Amino acid sequence: MTTVISPATLPAAIRDDFPFFAPGAPGAALSYLDNAATTQKPRRMLEAMADYYTHANSNIGRGYYRLAMTSTDRFERARETVRRTVGARYADEIVFTAGTTHAVNLLAATLGATRGIGPGDKVLVTGLEHNSNLLPWKELCEGTGAELAVAKADASGRVTPEAFEAALDDRVRLAAVAHVSNVLGTVNPVRELAAAAHRRGVPVVVDGAQAVPHGRVDVCDLGADFYCFSGHKVYGPMGVGVLYGRRELLHELPPYQVGGGTVKGVRLDEPVRYVPGPARWEAGTPHVAGAVGLAAALDYLDDLGWDAVRDHGAALVRAAADAVAGLDRVRVVGDPVSRPSGIVSLVVDGIHPYDVGAHLDANAVAVRCGVHCASVFLDELGLLGTVRLSFGVYNTEDDVERVRAALATVRPGQWTAEHPTTRFL
Ligand code: ALA
Repeated sequence: MTTVISPATLPAAIRDDFPFFAPGAPGAALSYLDNAATTQKPRRMLEAMADYYTHANSNIGRGYYRLAMTSTDRFERARETVRRTVGARYADEIVFTAGTTHAVNLLAATLGATRGIGPGDKVLVTGLEHNSNLLPWKELCEGTGAELAVAKADASGRVTPEAFEAALDDRVRLAAVAHVSNVLGTVNPVRELAAAAHRRGVPVVVDGAQAVPHGRVDVCDLGADFYCFSGHKVYGPMGVGVLYGRRELLHELPPYQVGGGTVKGVRLDEPVRYVPGPARWEAGTPHVAGAVGLAAALDYLDDLGWDAVRDHGAALVRAAADAVAGLDRVRVVGDPVSRPSGIVSLVVDGIHPYDVGAHLDANAVAVRCGVHCASVFLDELGLLGTVRLSFGVYNTEDDVERVRAALATVRPGQWTAEHPTTRFL
C-alpha cells in the first residue's frame, strides 16, 4: 500500500488515475522517477484522445461539414485551455508545436531574421541550458556571424540576476533562458532576468519544459516574451507542445514551415499571403488529438490543484535530499531544495552515474543518468554525469525510501563489467 506524502494536498488514490501503475502494468512494482524525461499518463488524458479519434476525428480548418467543425472546435478549445493555464492574454498567442525542441527551433529560425541578428550581435543563453535551448541558438549564431554569450550559473545551480545583468551588454539582441534546470531542478529567477533584459529592449525566450509540470506558470507575471513547453512532460501525449508568444512579437514572425493551412491565398505570380494567427506556424495537419490530450492533462492538474502539485513535488524533493544526506559517498548536486521543482540530482563518489542507474534499475527504480542532454553544463560542474531523481504527482515517500535503500547498497565495480563507463547522453 503506497502512502502519498501529503494526503492534505493530493489524494492517496492518485495512482489509480494512471493505468501505468495498475496491477500487472509496468509501473505496478516500479518506482518511476524519470518524470523529467517523460511522465506517465492519466486515464482522463488517454480517454480524451480515444474519444477524439472515436467521435470527432476529421481534419481541422478545412472541411465545411459538421464533423470537421467539431474537430476544429475541439482543437481551438484545447488552445483556450492552454491559454488559461499559462495566463496568456489571447488564444492567438498559443501555437501548438511538436514539443519544446520544435518551438525553440521555430523561434531561432524566425526571430533571427525579424530581429536582424548578424555579425557583432550577441544571443545570450544561460550556462545551464539543455541542448534544446542551446543548439538552435548556437546554429543561429554560426549562421549569422553573431556571438553566443553565456551567463553562467552559480554554485547553487541558478543564474543570479547580477550574473545575467553583467552579461547583458549593448550587443545582446536576444536572450534564451531555462526556467528550471533539467539537470539539477534549480529554478532560474526568470522574472528578474526578463526585467533586466527588457530594460535593454531585449526579448526573452523561456524554456519552461521542466517548470510547467511542477506548478502554475503565468507567462505575463514572469514577463516572458516567448515560453515553450512539451505536452509529454506534463502528463500529456508525446509529439505535442506549446509555444506562447506575446502577441506583438509573435505576430511579426514569418512562417517557420509553410504548407496547408498557413495561407490566405496563393497565386504563382505573387508573393504568398500568410494568415496572421497561430495557424501561420501550424503548417500541415497538426496533432489535433495531441492538443486535445494535452488540454485534458492540464485540466486534470487543474482539478488536482496547481498548489497541491507544487507542494507535493517540493515535499518529495526535500524528502529525497534528507534521505540521501546520511549516505556515504552520496552528494546532492547544487541546491534543489531552497526552491524545489521536482528534481534532485546526485553523484555517488567513485561510481559512474550509469552504474548507479543500473543498480537502481536492478532495485526497481527507474531514473535517468548521465549528462541529460546538457553536457556543457555538466562540463561546467566538472562532472561526468549525475543520477537524476525526478518526481511526478503519483510518486510517494515509498519511492524515496526505495531509492535510499538501493543507494545504501551500491558498491564500486558492481556493474562496470556489464555496462560501459563512457559518458551517456
Ligand atoms: N529533456 C528530457 C530530459 O531532461 C528528455 O530528460
